[in-house]
Amino acid sequence: MTSKKLTILSIETSCDESALSIMKASGTLEKPQVTLLSNDVASQIELHREYGGVFPMMAKREHAKNLTPLLIQTLTEAKFLKKLKKEIHIDEKLKSKLLASIQKDAELFKNLFELLPTIKKPNIDLIAVTTGPGLEPALWVGINFAKMLSLYWDIPVVPVNHMEGHVVSSMMLPKKDTPFGKQKIKIPTFPLLSLLVSGGHTELVLAKKFGKYQVIGSTRDDAAGEAFDKVARMLNLPYPGGPEISKIAKNSKGNPAVVFPRPMMHSNDFEFSFSGLKTSVLYFIRDLTTKLTPSLKADIAKEFQDSVIQVLVHKTLKASKKYAIKTLLVGGGVAANHQLRKDLTDTFKKELPLVEVCFPRPDLSTDNSIMIGLAGFLHIAQGKKPIKNPLNMKAKVNLQL
Ligand code: KG4
Ligand code: ZN
Repeated sequence: MTSKKLTILSIETSCDESALSIMKASGTLEKPQVTLLSNDVASQIELHREYGGVFPMMAKREHAKNLTPLLIQTLTEAKFLKKLKKEIHIDEKLKSKLLASIQKDAELFKNLFELLPTIKKPNIDLIAVTTGPGLEPALWVGINFAKMLSLYWDIPVVPVNHMEGHVVSSMMLPKKDTPFGKQKIKIPTFPLLSLLVSGGHTELVLAKKFGKYQVIGSTRDDAAGEAFDKVARMLNLPYPGGPEISKIAKNSKGNPAVVFPRPMMHSNDFEFSFSGLKTSVLYFIRDLTTKLTPSLKADIAKEFQDSVIQVLVHKTLKASKKYAIKTLLVGGGVAANHQLRKDLTDTFKKELPLVEVCFPRPDLSTDNSIMIGLAGFLHIAQGKKPIKNPLNMKAKVNLQL
């Protein structure tokens, strides 16, 4: 248990957001205190939008390009950037050790090592970095970045599971005006259930205490966010599809001629499947004898969204009853969906009014590094030792909770 104040630099590059932030964290697992000093995100959405989705090698290149300017930005914001009067000469031995450890990221190395010898070591005690799950080339950039900073500045590293970041993201309560400064953190009452709905995952996770997770159900094929993205493409809507579908769905008054299935809604488990639903939408559009007008698009978007949300709400409620949970934490990009928020809130108010339902605030719904820093700190507060020499740290594409 720690009550020592730690200044944490957090790094997230598992998909299409390069994100860095700096926070001061102290207190215990039961009562953590966090002050956010800086938060910077370089989104690749515009680039991936041109191609209709995320290509891992393109994401990797962008992360490598973005991270050093982001570091300058985030250190400046936290008032940690101090230029040196005289450039430091990097020891050749250290340089070759660093290069050997990150062979695949020569560009990142070049960018970062133009900066590091010109600045003073900032007051950072710990680096938190996402090591998985995610796109392998993208994960490696963040990991290599963490390794280089760790070796160069002699700062230990705590590896973080991206999905655990999404689990804890709703513990940080909304803030008025600015996300910076002292954060209000609400540690949930256990047992808790987490509904994780992102571009790569759809999972129901049970936790009896922090750090001990049991995945009780997940998708057998497409993730919920992935289905939103694919259906959006069928409707000629830009990437990422989730927000676009939810926007046009609002224009629908409901159309009885547009009906899609509720896949696995009544199956006797907590599994999901969204690939068949996606195919239903595809066939419906293919077999149309009329034009795909904006109003028909809105009806398709609404019925598709209703289907995903009804299945998610139904299974989440069923699991919550079965495991007598006290808190529901929703996380991942799809948690930004207003209809999902409303339907989950209304359903739980009616059926399980004693369960507290928590959603992440908008800046913590989609990928960010603040949730990575928080999850990393909670592990340290629980007694986990950070890695002093992270040279062997690896990307774990399919890391499980
Ligand atoms: O968690 P996230 O930012 O990245 C991953 O780890 O995958 O989630 C991104 C996903 C995308 O599929 C995106 O379409 C979806 O979240 N999303 C939404 C909404 N906003 C983002 N899906 C439905 N409704 C939204 N408002
Ligand atoms: Zn995510």
